[in-house]
Amino acid sequence: MNNRLLVRGARQMLTLRGPAFPRRGAQLRDLSILENGAMLIEDGVITHVGPARRVENLAAARNARELDASGRVVMPGFVDSHTHLIHGPARLDDYEARLQGRSYAEIAKAGGGIRFTMRAVGGTSAKRLTAQARGHLGTMARYGTTTLEAKSGYGADDATELRLLRIAKALNDAPLTIVPTFLGAHSTPPAFDGDPDGYIHHQIQSLLPCVASAGLTRFADAYCDSGAFTVAQVRRYLSAATGHGLQAKIHASQFAEIGAVALALEFEAVSADHLEAIGAAQVEALARSNTIATLLPGSVFHLGLSRYAPARGLIDAGAAVAIATDFNPGTSPSCSMQMAISLACAQMRMTPAEAIVAATINGAHAIGLAGECGSLEAAKYGDFLVLNVSDYREMPYSFGLNHVALTVKRGEVIYCEKDDPLI
Ligand code: NIG
Ligand code: FE
Repeated sequence: MNNRLLVRGARQMLTLRGPAFPRRGAQLRDLSILENGAMLIEDGVITHVGPARRVENLAAARNARELDASGRVVMPGFVDSHTHLIHGPARLDDYEARLQGRSYAEIAKAGGGIRFTMRAVGGTSAKRLTAQARGHLGTMARYGTTTLEAKSGYGADDATELRLLRIAKALNDAPLTIVPTFLGAHSTPPAFDGDPDGYIHHQIQSLLPCVASAGLTRFADAYCDSGAFTVAQVRRYLSAATGHGLQAKIHASQFAEIGAVALALEFEAVSADHLEAIGAAQVEALARSNTIATLLPGSVFHLGLSRYAPARGLIDAGAAVAIATDFNPGTSPSCSMQMAISLACAQMRMTPAEAIVAATINGAHAIGLAGECGSLEAAKYGDFLVLNVSDYREMPYSFGLNHVALTVKRGEVIYCEKDDPLI
């Protein structure tokens, strides 16, 4: 049987066709919608997207399997460019303590927080961590994510950090594409209690060279904030990481602006993530840079805080903005990109179109995969969704629901809401 798939009948096909660099400013509002479009996928790769009459009349479209989207929305699969996918158990005690008024920082000091997860991950076998992560990947596929990043950072020692990166890489045998990121400066583990400088020194001397030479990742991330690592510490770590050829990412200004954005720009970071605490100067600086501002509204929502990142200011100033889930057991235990999009609209005043661009093609740029996913364009993989709506704005509007009828990865259905897979 041939391996050609013809997608037709969508009320709106959001192609996101556009420039080959991250979308910034007004470009974020351009979804390049085809109202009577069709798409042909051959061997998992998109070969044609355009007006239905043209694509359906192609010789290659004859005898292709057909997917009739019957008046619904077709769009690229979500690219979740910031997750802590492999993380062991939920932190329900932290959650309840926070609801009773304790802050994230207080809980962390009392032995909860990232250190709790470090202990749990250390005591869990690779097999079990892998099985848990596969469960999460299944949920992500159901909610429309087709590509994601997965950070390490919950390993209390070298062996565990390497294990997390290897698990992330090996999980690419699942249908989703997973990009591992080395988060080598997340939290000081117990062995270096009270000695964050010593820990950074250790990472630079021992683990970074190992991670880089094993070819496990292209990215090095660090948590630069009050209560985490200082600018000086992160500068040392990122100097070494970039010296090994890794590209920088930073958890920046989640709780306080201590200079993390300037540091991200100093290292030409691919992305600066969080940014809830930034001010006008950082907004301007990001807008003038090539660093993607990755916003994570799920963590603000889950922590019950009210200060979201200034998405409107960033976009209006001309910055490239992505949104992601920050899926992790402490600050954002949800892997729903649809929820992140609803929050981006309702709480950060992004338009639905901006939020969709931020959750697809700009996310792809933030993990170096814009050449293969994030939009429906010839030569990219056939990673797309059929949504149970006829106007894309209904997806963020009806928040908290799953609008995905079908998730397709490289031309193959990986999730179908109904037993009958439409094809
Ligand atoms: O992105 N900010 C630091 N890291 C994570 C939280 C990790 C955790 O609490 O386990 C974040 O929010
Ligand atoms: Fe994070």
